[in-house]
Amino acid sequence: MSLLLPGLRRVALRAPAPAASICRQCLWQQAPAAAALRPSSIQQQPSSAPSRILRILRQTRSQHTASQQAAPLSDIAKQAVPEAASSKSAKSSSWPETSSKSVAYWLLGSAVSVFGIVVFGGLTRLTESGLSITEWKPVTGSRPPISDEDWESEFTKYKASPEFKMINSHMDLDDFKSIYFMEWTHRLWGRVIGMSFVLPTIYFIARRRVTKRMAFSLVGISALIGFQGFIGWWMVASGLKDDLFAPGSHPRVSQYRLAAHLATAFVCYSWMLLSALSILRARRAVAAPVETLKHLTALQSPVLTTLRRSTALLTGLVFVTVLSGALVAGLDAGLIYNEFPKMGLGLTPPKSELWDKFYSRKEDGSDLWWRNMLENPSLVQLDHRILATTTFCAVLALFAYSRTGRVSAAMPKDVKKGVLGMVHLVSLQVALGITTLIYMVPIPLGAAHQAGALALLTGALVLGHRLRVPKPLLAQVQKRLQAAQGQVKR
Ligand code: HEM
Repeated sequence: MSLLLPGLRRVALRAPAPAASICRQCLWQQAPAAAALRPSSIQQQPSSAPSRILRILRQTRSQHTASQQAAPLSDIAKQAVPEAASSKSAKSSSWPETSSKSVAYWLLGSAVSVFGIVVFGGLTRLTESGLSITEWKPVTGSRPPISDEDWESEFTKYKASPEFKMINSHMDLDDFKSIYFMEWTHRLWGRVIGMSFVLPTIYFIARRRVTKRMAFSLVGISALIGFQGFIGWWMVASGLKDDLFAPGSHPRVSQYRLAAHLATAFVCYSWMLLSALSILRARRAVAAPVETLKHLTALQSPVLTTLRRSTALLTGLVFVTVLSGALVAGLDAGLIYNEFPKMGLGLTPPKSELWDKFYSRKEDGSDLWWRNMLENPSLVQLDHRILATTTFCAVLALFAYSRTGRVSAAMPKDVKKGVLGMVHLVSLQVALGITTLIYMVPIPLGAAHQAGALALLTGALVLGHRLRVPKPLLAQVQKRLQAAQGQVKR
């Protein structure tokens, strides 16, 4: 492009007078015009005479729409900055200043895929299919059994598992094939997520389509996906050995490992989502710096500080509630006390049941409280009810606070919508949770409740993102606007 600049600039300089009436938008869209705003190109003009293009722009300024007249700087910045931003920062490194839009859309697509696999993973658990594949073969395992011998061999391995011996001994090969396919699809989906993330990550980094910071994020997410595959197997392994669950109890995976698997999926999803949102925001800032500056300055108002901090705390609370839900699911604690708000005769089960010595493994009983909190199904369910109710009340309180005079006046529209969205999402999630409990965890409701948890977390993350004022972005926008302003003065 730089090779074309002198020639194009000559054409612009020779333009006859009527050229002055050409729409400025069109002029700016010409690369040479944008380049003319760059310090290097301006320096090539004699310092006493402003460039012809700038003169044309100044003359035509009055011929434009009212909004454009109102914000001449915004026009200049709008047009000048995208070109500058997408070009590589030649001074310091070869990393671009903003990541490519396609990276943002790919990240959003990956997040949707993780959302899908979370729900599918829930279905795998609810249909009790998760323990049907008894080995972990990250590469060769992507091929399903095809021949009769292959199927017989897989079935024989499953027959040796505690789950078959203790609860599924009535199963024939066809029953086995259906649970096997659920688990196999779940694992294959995981591999697809891994490959469709890692390969584009390498490409985007090699082609410098992302900022340096984003490159670190992409590598981090890739590592997390790999780690998730390992945790998945670590979780399944806990359900295959009978020494890992209480003798005589229903074979199931460790609730701790289930919670770790779910938490990692939620973190991975959140990281992808937030990375995508930050790219889109940075690109919007580049395209409309004046509006962005106005928006960020409004968000910096001290009136919004409490709202911002509360949203961050609320996001943490949603995450803890999700973890407690995973413990409920892992212990099948949704199959007891199928009523709401009561649990038996009162709002809570009797104290002796909640702090049962049976769960303590130490002579002195020092682990009584935490073992009961994390391993006793009655108390685990009560924990989840308390956390869910607290989350619900916290969202309503945030909503009420956000509608108070000063806060409401200072809040941008998208933040207002975000808070209202949270009210809808948490109400839906609580309704789904109660229905799931009352109907003793039917598969569609259990899966919908799991999806609702991720939707609620999404709402909290999006709200937090809308309230955030990223300091580097603010500084970048301010710098660009100052540079554009300086060029207009010249
Ligand atoms: C803020 C609200 C809530 C959130 C974020 C939430 C989140 C979750 C999550 C993530 C799970 C694990 C799902 C899985 O791994 O399959 C779960 C399970 C469960 N939750 Fe909630 N929950 C909420 C409210 C409630 C309420 C109010 C109840 C009822 C009192 C409830 C009852 C259950 C039950 C019974 C399960 C076990 C379902 C199963 O076995 O699949 N939840 N919850």
